Amino acid sequence: MTERIRFLLNGRVRDVSDLAPTTTLLEYLRTVEHLTGSKEGCAEGDCGACTVVVGELREGRVRYRSANACILLLPMLDGLEVITVERLKTLAGGGPHPVQQAMVEHHASQCGFCTPGFVMSLFALYHEDERGNRHIGNGEPVGAAEIHDAIAGNLCRCTGYRPILAAARAIASQTRPALPDTSSALTLLQRDRELAYRVPSGAFFAPRSLAELSSRLAKYPDATLVAGATDVGLWVTKQQRSLPILVHAGRVDALRRIASDDAGLMIGAAATWSEARAALVALEPGLAELLSRFASMQIRNSATVGGNIANGSPIGDGMPPLIALGARLRLCSNQGERELALEDYYLDYGRQDRRPGEFVASIFVPRPAPSTVFRVWKLSKRFDQDISALCGAFALDIRAARSTPEGDQPAMVRAARIAFGGMAGIPRRASASEAALTGQPWTEASLEAAIAALDQDFTPIGDHRASAEYRRLAGGNLLRRLFVETTRPEVATGVYRHAG
Ligand SMILES: Cc1cc2nc3c(=O)[nH]c(=O)nc-3n(C[C@H](O)[C@H](O)[C@H](O)COP(=O)(O)OP(=O)(O)OC[C@H]3O[C@@H](n4cnc5c(N)ncnc54)[C@H](O)[C@@H]3O)c2cc1C
Ligand code: FES
Ligand code: FES
Repeated sequence: MTERIRFLLNGRVRDVSDLAPTTTLLEYLRTVEHLTGSKEGCAEGDCGACTVVVGELREGRVRYRSANACILLLPMLDGLEVITVERLKTLAGGGPHPVQQAMVEHHASQCGFCTPGFVMSLFALYHEDERGNRHIGNGEPVGAAEIHDAIAGNLCRCTGYRPILAAARAIASQTRPALPDTSSALTLLQRDRELAYRVPSGAFFAPRSLAELSSRLAKYPDATLVAGATDVGLWVTKQQRSLPILVHAGRVDALRRIASDDAGLMIGAAATWSEARAALVALEPGLAELLSRFASMQIRNSATVGGNIANGSPIGDGMPPLIALGARLRLCSNQGERELALEDYYLDYGRQDRRPGEFVASIFVPRPAPSTVFRVWKLSKRFDQDISALCGAFALDIRAARSTPEGDQPAMVRAARIAFGGMAGIPRRASASEAALTGQPWTEASLEAAIAALDQDFTPIGDHRASAEYRRLAGGNLLRRLFVETTRPEVATGVYRHAG
């Protein structure tokens, strides 16, 4: 007999025992609950028309985040709260919610297809940002960049974004109607052991401990491990793959821990990019822009660091910077655990060094030495919500130029770690380029040698994102940009700023 999936939907407990485990939340909302406010635009996490708000009880309080309902699998919601656009008018006492009112007053809707999604993204910002800070409505300032971040995952084909931004800014000065406290109701829905949901079309297991996860994967080594489902969800909606047994890593607390000390930062594999962002940026501020350009807020709120690493896409954004920073992976199974350098995990296109029953448990990122210069650049056709054509990451330990009794010594590269995504079938280090720099003065001559060596490291391919020649040239130009930024700080190299 199956256990039931239980969650709060717009304040009411729902319980499901007869739907396929791959049913998406959006499918459920629209076809079972007839809540058709959330729209299906793309069914792949790109357009934001399906945006809902998901609440989770963490350390005694409910944390809210925006999410794409089209790629969330229904059993992943067990024990959580879902708020859809239909809930907003009851929160506001029967009339339009301030977010909706602001959209009306600023003419921020035309055909209206995208509007519920924008409303929910702004509602999420209005209540809680990804770090759990409250913003708008408390009279606290909310910057243009934060608004931009909150809605970068929502597309509108008619209105243009100016009136939507005006509405978002207007909400800042309004009073926020309180959300009812659902922590007691959610407490009653929590489990202390795994969810085992079994129906004729498949099974979904959501372990709560590392032991439960290891034993599920030992029992079902061919099961699909799913964390945030921002990759796996598309296997369902776009590829119509059959996934008869799913094991969910996202509810194992031990996999969500983030801890930092003098040695570095440990990120549990099931921590989302939103959860890990502050700690990553505190460790290495050079990661900030890349992390805000990784997908969209909705995706970052679900997508995990471990899922990105495990998926191992050659154009994934997490791997190049983490490899350049010297990250190490911890893999676990019921046979024990092992550790390896992140770059050694990638064997070939689509093939990783993951043994049957194994899962990625955590990622350790060593603290960069103060003399390390770090940069990562993502090149894509759009600034926001786009996949990289190329991602280059550079960590160079540079000894500053100095005067000695023997004369002036130029700046020297003591060590170099360079990694690229988009240049090969796997995310990979540029070993020849690193060797051309290591132990060499940080000069134009060494730079040119390192750029030339990239041809030994990579034979990039051309595809719809970029031609092979573009990738080859751009890879070298990123190294050149690093040189300019580190040797001529007076030269601006085109840092992008959001318009106010
Ligand atoms: C609209 C959209 C935009 C995106 N933009 C970007 C982007 O800008 N940059 C980028 O890099 N990616 C992007 N992605 C891809 C995706 O969001 C990331 O790869 C994400 O980090 C995957 O994490 P997840 O938890 O959702 O993984 P899931 O989809 O749950 O799983 C992905 C894969 O990893 C495996 N897996 C998950 N957790 C583990 C684990 N602990 N151990 C072993 N295997 C595991 C799964 O079995 C599966 O094979 C985007 C995706 C979408 C839909
Ligand atoms: S329908 Fe487009 S993001 Fe979900
Ligand atoms: S109002 Fe028509 S898509 Fe945005």
